[in-house]
Amino acid sequence: MVKPAFLVMNVITLSLVAACSLVSAAPDHDQLRPWPATLPQGLLDLRIVDQLRFGPNVTARFSTDYGRLTEATPAAVLYPPSAADIAALVRLSFSSPRPFAIAARGHGHSVRGQALAPCGVVVDMASLGGAHGRVNVRVGDDGAYYYVDAGGEQLWIDVLRESLNHGVAPRSWTDYLYLTVGGTLSNAGIGGQAFRHGPQISNVYELDVITGKGDMITCSPGTNSDLFYGVLGGLGQLGIITRARIAVEPAPERVRWVRLIYTDLGSLTRDQELLLSITEKGFDYIEGELLTEKGIDNSSFFSCKDSAKINALAAEFRVIYFLEGALYYKLNAASQVDERLESLLKKLKFVPGFAFTKDVSYVRFLNRVHEDEIKLRPLGLWDVPHPWLNVFVPKSSIRDFEIRVIQAILTADSSSASAGTFLITPMNKTKWDDQMSVATPDEEVFYAVGLLRSATEDDWKRLDRQNEEIISTCEHARIELKQYLPYYRSQEEWKRHFGRKWERFAELKSKYDPKALLSPGQRIFTSLTVS
Ligand SMILES: Cc1cc2nc3c(=O)[nH]c(=O)nc-3n(C[C@H](O)[C@H](O)[C@H](O)COP(=O)(O)OP(=O)(O)OC[C@H]3O[C@@H](n4cnc5c(N)ncnc54)[C@H](O)[C@@H]3O)c2cc1C
Ligand SMILES: *[C@@H]1O[C@H](CO)[C@@H](O)[C@H](O)[C@H]1NC(C)=O
Ligand SMILES: *[C@@H]1O[C@H](CO)[C@@H](O)[C@H](O)[C@H]1NC(C)=O
Ligand SMILES: *[C@@H]1O[C@H](CO)[C@@H](O)[C@H](O)[C@H]1NC(C)=O
Repeated sequence: MVKPAFLVMNVITLSLVAACSLVSAAPDHDQLRPWPATLPQGLLDLRIVDQLRFGPNVTARFSTDYGRLTEATPAAVLYPPSAADIAALVRLSFSSPRPFAIAARGHGHSVRGQALAPCGVVVDMASLGGAHGRVNVRVGDDGAYYYVDAGGEQLWIDVLRESLNHGVAPRSWTDYLYLTVGGTLSNAGIGGQAFRHGPQISNVYELDVITGKGDMITCSPGTNSDLFYGVLGGLGQLGIITRARIAVEPAPERVRWVRLIYTDLGSLTRDQELLLSITEKGFDYIEGELLTEKGIDNSSFFSCKDSAKINALAAEFRVIYFLEGALYYKLNAASQVDERLESLLKKLKFVPGFAFTKDVSYVRFLNRVHEDEIKLRPLGLWDVPHPWLNVFVPKSSIRDFEIRVIQAILTADSSSASAGTFLITPMNKTKWDDQMSVATPDEEVFYAVGLLRSATEDDWKRLDRQNEEIISTCEHARIELKQYLPYYRSQEEWKRHFGRKWERFAELKSKYDPKALLSPGQRIFTSLTVS
């Protein structure tokens, strides 16, 4: 068998940091001069030249991300009015004797520089949307709902709003909706609905993709299926998603939203697994969260009185948990939701007297994290360093994870558990198509554990070291973690991450992006010597 280039070739180094900084240091009022040294010269007749912007004022926003842990300056930013312009940029790089890196930037909500393009070109995906949203809902003549076609640059909040205008909505969501369709589909897009419907990547019928050669390809399970499955969870390595056709369901109107308190992880996960197995009249959404003795902040969910009660319990046990569930319903079926909830609660073993419910609109429920954002922003607590760690933990190891990570590292000293949200969400692997690129544990049930920390300039490195300690502790204890939104330093680690999927992924890379132009910030096929 002929080995694909990437299995024999060493990592490609794209970085030309010195040349880049030269450009940044010499801004000019004429946008085209000086032409960045790292981009091909003499192209002034190309249409996309007018869409490229240079200089520090332009590139600053594209040199870092939500994580605020990494920084790398691109040579230029492309503001493309159409997908064809992105394809033209990719072809320009692909055919140049000195190819440059290209990163699609969705909403820049990565935390490790995954959407950066040192010395290359960042594509501002939002430009594709222009003044008109690119969200089109297809509803059949008979009123049957089909799907929503959304531009890869669209924010999920806008996909939701437009879908609701037609009485439908996508089925699987992330917790936060100010993320782009292309950005979450390049990872997986997970949340409380995934146990039932799978992650967002399991709810896609068709994609338009621009490959690393600049080809525009429509793909689906039936057509160009290797590209279709490869791009889903493909970390931007095989192509740029410019449109996704997404499954929808009739939109619920209201949500009965509950939080149930537990004093140990075993009871929480036992109940989560029970609920995950209920297919008829079960919860429509299940997540879980860890609370430390610091307790809960003034939240939009708990009343002051309830918060005090919960905080007292947290102080007593040091670590407590809540299971978060949601039941969707239509207004004209409001009485049935009470019965459904009651019969579910009877099966569960939360701390007696510690069940809290709220009733909200569907939009308010899905957009709940945005309410926190609005509160945190003015306090300067949103745009801070985010040393996050997201991992999938197989069910068989969750007890071990509790002892070795949650108890021994995370909550061992109260300062380390400081600010942040710690999520524990159950997943059913049968809802994940194994042909997709995303790596998951080899067990039917696994947990997405999200350590979503907010740090300061002074303490993010300490928290980051703690993340590394968590990973190495699990390695030594043979807990088969898979990182979600993965971050590694070497290709060896990436090979281990993808496991049996690596060879296939590398083959697809050499087929669809043979010069390794796309999303270099993932650092899988390119090494970035960012200074
Ligand atoms: C507050 C917050 C909450 C979050 N909650 C969740 C959650 O509940 N569930 C979850 O799964 N994730 C969650 N995430 C993570 C999120 O899914 C990732 O950050 C993801 O990258 C989406 O962000 P983005 O659209 O800003 O993409 P970017 O950060 O801009 O890009 C991410 C990567 O995808 C590439 N890319 C961007 N657009 C495209 C495209 N159209 N085609 C191909 N590649 C592309 C980029 O080059 C980059 O490598 C959350 C992040 C934040 C900051
Ligand atoms: C860059 O921004 C600064 C500060 O806002 C401004 O003074 C300067 O004129 C800008 N430079 C260019 C080239 O636009
Ligand atoms: C996972 O989902 C499949 C398909 O719906 C189901 O048959 C199976 O029972 C689920 N697993 C668990 C542990 O509930
Ligand atoms: C909660 O809000 C009250 C009143 O606004 C404030 O005094 C208190 O410090 C807040 N508590 C927390 C934990 O933020």
